[in-house]
Amino acid sequence: MALKSTNPTTTNSWKKLQAHFEAIEAKHLKELFSSNPKRAEELTIEWEDFYVDFSKNRITKETLSILVELANELDLKDAISKYFEGDIINETEGRAVLHTALRAKEDAKIYVDGDNVMPGVYDVKQKIKDFTNIVVDGSHKGHTGKSITDIVNIGIGGSDLGPAMVVDSLQYYKNHLNTHFVSNVDGDHYKEVIKGLNPETTLFVIVSKTFTTQETLSNANSIRTWFLESLPKEAIAKHFVAVSTNVESVKAFGINENNIFPMKDWVGGRFSLWSAVGLSISLALGYDNFESLLCGANKMDEHFKTTNFEKNIPVISALLTVWYNNFFNAESEAIIPYTQYLNQFATYLQQGIMESNGKYVDRAGDKVNYQTGTIIWGEPGTNSQHAFFQLIHQGTKLIPADFIGFIKSLHGNKDHHDKLMSNYFAQTEALMNGKTEVEVLAELEETTLSKEEKQKLLPFKIFEGNKPTTSLLIQKLTPESLGELIAMYEHKIFVQGIVWNIYSYDQFGVELGKQLAKTILKELKNNDSLSSHDASTQGLVGFYKKNC
Ligand code: F6P
Repeated sequence: MALKSTNPTTTNSWKKLQAHFEAIEAKHLKELFSSNPKRAEELTIEWEDFYVDFSKNRITKETLSILVELANELDLKDAISKYFEGDIINETEGRAVLHTALRAKEDAKIYVDGDNVMPGVYDVKQKIKDFTNIVVDGSHKGHTGKSITDIVNIGIGGSDLGPAMVVDSLQYYKNHLNTHFVSNVDGDHYKEVIKGLNPETTLFVIVSKTFTTQETLSNANSIRTWFLESLPKEAIAKHFVAVSTNVESVKAFGINENNIFPMKDWVGGRFSLWSAVGLSISLALGYDNFESLLCGANKMDEHFKTTNFEKNIPVISALLTVWYNNFFNAESEAIIPYTQYLNQFATYLQQGIMESNGKYVDRAGDKVNYQTGTIIWGEPGTNSQHAFFQLIHQGTKLIPADFIGFIKSLHGNKDHHDKLMSNYFAQTEALMNGKTEVEVLAELEETTLSKEEKQKLLPFKIFEGNKPTTSLLIQKLTPESLGELIAMYEHKIFVQGIVWNIYSYDQFGVELGKQLAKTILKELKNNDSLSSHDASTQGLVGFYKKNC
């Protein structure tokens, strides 16, 4: 059954939120803390290895209860059932959205068009496992009888970002295989990657759900040409595998049917790392770690499906985005992990969140009259503190931020970890409290500056504070906890889409530029007239052609 369609701004709870916002907007977080000594406890959710503190957000318990009322009024419960049960909730593409099935238990029964998808899911998992084991233990030999030393994942968007982020984030758990990622159609990208590689010991994993993507096919073709400069055609069978829904096109590319790891169209590209798209993850970390990643995601799925909205981490987290985006007019959200391992996490989430919820047409086909998808950005702390934190602390924009920290470091250098985590704690405290005029003056009193100099400096040193943050404190970065964390954001995306009344699982917005690029490429290659373009584009393309 289709998702319901309601303009959220027409609900009673939205009106209540508007009135509540006017009452709360001017309140400082410090005030909210001093008026409720139990605030931190009341607004923290402990689940598994997660301690999620929402209390440094500009909310009260009343805000949360009206936000939950909004979720209820929009029938979020019903939408969650449809999501997990394989209803066609990606209506514009006529598909179910079932990345959750990829990490479900084997005895689960999940139907698409009357067929239980789980046996198929487990067949592919078995194929990933068997292949991973022979590559990792060296028994899969390349054409010249040597074991594989290097894996190259060729894909883009969801066929690159998820696997690349997970492999990088979990590099501590990696085996001996070197893993590389080629994504950009920029020929310098693949050239740089292959320049140090030996084709005899390299395995290429071509990942493309559609197997029509220009970037991936160009890279795969160029790499195959390079490969065939040193090895014969028969060698392809030992060195190229593919992940796709488009088996015919993969075969036409020259890949043996046994080397195809299938995926289903009910797996969206940006949610596909749990499918065969995660083959490079499995190869790099070993199958057991891949399985733990899935297991973590499945735990978060259960939490999301079964927990009351008041204590439901993805639900609260999504409703807070709505609160800031639609009432405080905050345009962006920052993701700040306090671990260098999650260096690619914000980049990965940019696709997940912005490709899903960057839509201005609602589920009824009408233009929305409210804001939808937020802009996502971020970098690990403490590096980001020395880059853009100035703007979060003293800029003119409100930027709600997720601070993700881990109790244990992986290599166990306690001294460094305490330093890292003291920054993690201090930054959210500083963002919340700021620094008052009295505090700045007291500090200036300790200096030898003249009275005039102190007065002159004063306004620049004041921090207003009242900047909202959510602190996620997790035991340790493991395949399982990373799976939980990714799934948390996936469900957050879903809830936001339900509230904003948009279709989160299509991506028509990426098509127009691709179409135009095809036309321009033809014009570049054939020296065709540019007269169909606007004057600016004609000028740019013309200048390129003259000088290239
Ligand atoms: O350009 C957008 C997109 O369709 C993404 O949604 C997808 O992850 C990516 O391209 C790659 O697509 P494919 O896996 O079909 O090559």
